[in-house]
Amino acid sequence: MAGGGFVTTGEVKNYSGRMTMFVLFTCFVAATGGLILGYDIGISGGVTSMDPFLKKFFPSVYDKMQRDKESRNQYCKFDSQLLTTFTSSLYIAGLIASFFASWVTRRFGRKPSMFFGGVTFLAGAAINGAAKDVAMLIIGRILLGIGVGFASQSAPLYLSEMAPAKLRGALNIGFQLFITIGILAANLVNYGTANIKGGWGWRVSLALAAVPAAIITIGTLFLPDTPNSLIERDHPDQAHAMLKRIRGSDDVEEEFQDLVDASEASKKVENPWRNIVRRKYRPQLVMALAIPFFQQLTGINVIMFYAPVLFKTIGFGSNASLMSAVITGVVNVIATFVSIFTVDTYGRRILFLEGGIQMFISQVLIGILLGIKFGVSGIGDLSKGYANLVVFFICVYVAAFAWSWGPLGCLVPSEIFPLEIRSVGQSINVSTNLLFTFVIAQAFIAMLCHLKFGLFFFFAGWVFVMTTFMYFFMPETKNVPIEEMTLVWRKHWFWGRILPHDDDAALEMASNGQGKAVW
Ligand code: BGC
Repeated sequence: MAGGGFVTTGEVKNYSGRMTMFVLFTCFVAATGGLILGYDIGISGGVTSMDPFLKKFFPSVYDKMQRDKESRNQYCKFDSQLLTTFTSSLYIAGLIASFFASWVTRRFGRKPSMFFGGVTFLAGAAINGAAKDVAMLIIGRILLGIGVGFASQSAPLYLSEMAPAKLRGALNIGFQLFITIGILAANLVNYGTANIKGGWGWRVSLALAAVPAAIITIGTLFLPDTPNSLIERDHPDQAHAMLKRIRGSDDVEEEFQDLVDASEASKKVENPWRNIVRRKYRPQLVMALAIPFFQQLTGINVIMFYAPVLFKTIGFGSNASLMSAVITGVVNVIATFVSIFTVDTYGRRILFLEGGIQMFISQVLIGILLGIKFGVSGIGDLSKGYANLVVFFICVYVAAFAWSWGPLGCLVPSEIFPLEIRSVGQSINVSTNLLFTFVIAQAFIAMLCHLKFGLFFFFAGWVFVMTTFMYFFMPETKNVPIEEMTLVWRKHWFWGRILPHDDDAALEMASNGQGKAVW
C-alpha cells in the first residue's frame, strides 16, 4: 500500500493504537539520545564565559575582554574566530557524520547507530575533560559532533518506528524534550562548576558530558531493534516476533504485511537521492530544507549557546549571567510540554503562527531595549530592573520557540515524507539543521559585534518571513495518517498546482473528504 506514495484504499488503518509498557520503555531510552545534543548546546556557552577557561585556551580573548572593560564596548567583547571554531566545530562534524549515519542505520540497524553515537560522544567527553590545549579541545568536540550526528539521525527514526501511529507526535516530541532537559542540565552544571575554586570548573562541565553519553550508550544495550529495520535487513521472523511484543498482541498480521510491503517498495527505489528531486516530491523537499533553515534563523541558538555570554555582554556579572541561562533553560523545558499537549488537538499551524508572532514581538522589544541603552557605540550600563526586563522578554521568546519551531522542526519533517524517500528526507533535515546551527554559532559573536542590537531585528525579520511562509505554504498535518499525507499537498492551494496531476485516483479520494483541510 505504500507503493507510489498514494493510498489506494480510503480506509484509515488503526492497527497500532495500543501503547505497551515495553514501547514506553524503549521510546524513553531512545529519546534520551536528545540529551547529548542538548547537554552540548547548553555547556559550551557557559564554559566559554568562564575566565579560567578563557585564560587557559583563549588568552587573546581574555586579554581583549580585560581591555574592553576599559573601552566598554559591550558588543565586541568576545569577538574571536578561534573561540567560535571551538563552539561550532561540533556541528560540522555532526553534519558529515549524519550522512554516514544514514547508511549505518539502514545497513546495520538503528540500535548500532545509537550505540556508536553514545560511545563516540563518551570518548569526546573524556578528551575534552582532560584537555591540555586547543587542539585537544577541538578533537574532543569533533568526536562529540560525530556522536550527535549519529544519535540525531537514528533516535528519531527509532522513535517513529516503535511508536504506535496515534502517539507518534507526542513520542517524537520526547526527543526534543530531552534536548531541552540536556540544555537545562548543562546550564545547572555550569552554574555549579563556575564557582569551583581553583579554576578547573570548566573541566567538570566538559567531562560531565559523559553522563548523558553513558545513559544513551548503556540504555541502547537493552533496546531491541525496530521491526522495520529487522525486515529491511532480512530477518522477517524476528521482526514478526518483535512486532507482537511491542504491540502487546498476536494480531499484528496487517501491520506486519504493511511493513513488508513498505520495505519492498522502498527497496525498488534504487537511488532515493535522485528520486527526491522529482517534481512529485517538491513540497516535501522544500519543507525538508526550509523548516530546519528557518528553525535556526529564529536565532534560538544565540540564546542557547551564548546566553551567559550575552547576559555578560549586557552587563550581568558572571554568576547572574549563568543564573539567567538557567532561567531560560527552565522556560525552554516547561514550554515544550505545551506543544506535547496541544499539537495533536489544535494542530501544527496554529503553533507555528502563534509562536512566530510571539517571537517577533519579543525580539523587536529586546532590540529596542538594548538599542536605547547601548546605542551603536555599545557603551552603557543596564540597571538591574532594566536588565531583568530584557531577561523577561528573552524568556517570552524562548517559550514561543519551545512550543513552536523547536518541537515542530523535528516532528513535521518526520511526518511529511512518503516512505520511499523518508530516510533521505530525514538526512536532509538533520544536515540542514546542523549546517545552519554551525553558521549561526560561527557568525553570532561577529554579528553581535557588527550588527549590535540590530542583531535582534535581523532575527525578527527572519521570523516575520518564516511565519508568513508557513501561513501560505504549510498545510495542517495533524491527525493525518502518514500514508495519506500526499493528499494534503494535493489539496493545498499552491502545492496542488505544482504537483503533476498524474494520479486521478488520489485526487478523487481527496475530494471524497479523506485527509484534513488545508489552510
Ligand atoms: C534545535 C536546536 C536548539 C534546541 C533548543 C532544537 O529543536 O534544533 O538547535 O538548540 O531546539 O531547545
